[in-house]
Amino acid sequence: MRIEPFRLERYFAQHEFSAPYLLCCSDCGSMSIGDLLQMEPGAEEKFRETWLGYTESQGDPVLREAIARQYEGISADQVLVHSGAEEAIFNAMNALLKPGDHVIVLYPCYQSLAEVARAIGCEITYWKLENGPDWQLDLGFLEDKIRPNTKLLVINFPNNPTGYLLGKEDLTRISRLSQYHGFYVFSDEVYRWLEYDDKDRLPSICEINESGLTLGVMSKSFGLAGLRIGWIATQNREVYRKLATYKDYTTICNSAPSEFLSVIALNHKKQIIDRNLGIISDNITRLNDFFKKYDHLFKWTQPKAGPIAFPELLKGRIGEFCENLVSKTGVLLLPGDLYAEGSNHFRIGFGRATMTAALQKFQEYLEAEGMGK
Ligand SMILES: Cc1ncc(COP(=O)(O)O)c(C=O)c1O
Repeated sequence: MRIEPFRLERYFAQHEFSAPYLLCCSDCGSMSIGDLLQMEPGAEEKFRETWLGYTESQGDPVLREAIARQYEGISADQVLVHSGAEEAIFNAMNALLKPGDHVIVLYPCYQSLAEVARAIGCEITYWKLENGPDWQLDLGFLEDKIRPNTKLLVINFPNNPTGYLLGKEDLTRISRLSQYHGFYVFSDEVYRWLEYDDKDRLPSICEINESGLTLGVMSKSFGLAGLRIGWIATQNREVYRKLATYKDYTTICNSAPSEFLSVIALNHKKQIIDRNLGIISDNITRLNDFFKKYDHLFKWTQPKAGPIAFPELLKGRIGEFCENLVSKTGVLLLPGDLYAEGSNHFRIGFGRATMTAALQKFQEYLEAEGMGK
């Protein structure tokens, strides 16, 4: 397989551990192993006793139970644990697709959601989010593009990078189209549970579609990316079997300490997610003030969910803008042209309490450069 470099991940490899002010991260603030273990009496002792042999390749049964409890009508044997969401994306595409299959991908997107299928030799149609006064998605376009060889639709709500969240009726419509035309829906739900209003939360695709694949992970909403624990939940036994069979060639099984720690985090999901939503809510207030002050320079669309958004730079080119900013101040934004050629947007991340200091630096820079009003 000839796969293109992952532009966003290469950019992070260059800057993430050297730029002091990260203003574009997509995960919520993290914590130490000690902080996590403290949430549950007796967990520290049990963690020390965790056996470091091979683990069950589908994932620790206790962890699969804990994941299954997050979805309605899903049981532990319908959950397959992976090393992060990234392994699950790579494996699912490889297990389900062959050259010549047609794949429709929501766009802009986290690159692997389209690139793995493209590298396999699939024909890709990009289903674009349009930025009017708000982000918008045309379901008519999707319907028009379905072909007899359409094998897979890849969606991601809340979306990376725009933060866009689909309406529930539209998800039902997508699910019906998949059932009628016989394609799979791969739903990247790594930012799920970060809806600012619970009422906006979409059902998971594995709950409403018998062949739907739900992708979840500990990295984003929980802020525990270092665990490298992700999963796919699906009711479809044949899909599950294909995925499990493919995984024998990538990681075989998962990290035992990470599986144990993920169970603790899932047992305390409400506490962790509430903390993260609190940080997001405070940061959104700051961002609304900031973007109001600089509305001559940026177009801001506040999302309904998640820790990221994709504002547009109205003057100048985004690549140069981000490069100057990081080299002069150490503030890291993510230029939108890493997602889509010609985009003049940038990704901003607000899931961490450290955002305040980074935004302050950003503002000082804009004033020093004479970009204020
Ligand atoms: C939409 C989306 N899917 C998948 C991933 C990969 O997640 P992980 O790092 O947990 O493998 C990311 C990471 O940024 C993402 O934003």
